[in-house]
Amino acid sequence: MRIPLIAGNWKMNKNPEQTREFVSAVKSKLPQSGKVETVIGAPAVDLEALVESSADTQLKPAAENCYFEDAGAFTGENSPKVLSEMHIPYVIIGHSERREYFHETDEDVNKKAHQIFKNRMTPILCVGESLEIREKGETNKWVEDQVKAGIKGLTEDQVSRLVIAYEPIWAIGTGKTATSEQAEEVCAHIRKVVEKLYSEGVAEKMRVLYGGSVKPENIKELMGKKNIDGGLVGGASLEPESFLQLANYN
Ligand code: G3P
Repeated sequence: MRIPLIAGNWKMNKNPEQTREFVSAVKSKLPQSGKVETVIGAPAVDLEALVESSADTQLKPAAENCYFEDAGAFTGENSPKVLSEMHIPYVIIGHSERREYFHETDEDVNKKAHQIFKNRMTPILCVGESLEIREKGETNKWVEDQVKAGIKGLTEDQVSRLVIAYEPIWAIGTGKTATSEQAEEVCAHIRKVVEKLYSEGVAEKMRVLYGGSVKPENIKELMGKKNIDGGLVGGASLEPESFLQLANYN
């Protein structure tokens, strides 16, 4: 049984004080992590506040990015080793905003995935197509190529613990959610790709999230789909009340 995962992705939207306020507002109302796991991805400058304030709560911190080396002359980057030492369990990689604005390639994403696992954390690996690709009918092929490149060389054990987030670019921050059928179709395809590359057992353990205008009004329907194990949520994760509604969707 895969444990549902509701993960917020704050992007570049809060400071440390707001981070602490948010955690203190949600902490007593979160589901037990054995039932629904809850995660918040915060900017690097907020991670210390997030780790400290969420200790002994059901909420787990995530970094929104990291580098693929543990240390060295890489000005401005964040070390996966240090994130792990800070007791951060998850790192979001390959978000379409990072691919578009910061030129993160599939190769970078793959190197990051390896380094994150090496440091005993779990990647939340984002994939997703543009509107142009969807309109050309090439969504499955596009997403399949991103998944294959992103997980290249990972072991069976790593892939079974991996989280993949399917985020169609045209649905991010637009209020235009993919229908639950569209989301399910691609999430199911992602699982099939992993089944072919690894095994049915690995594919059945791996969690696949949907992201793109997820909100309290549509979470239940999305979560009702067989291959959708949770949501990666931007805008609706910023306010304690809507995050709690998402986390307590059932
Ligand atoms: O990573 C989450 C994301 O890109 C979706 O953002 O604001 O459409 O929920 P939003």
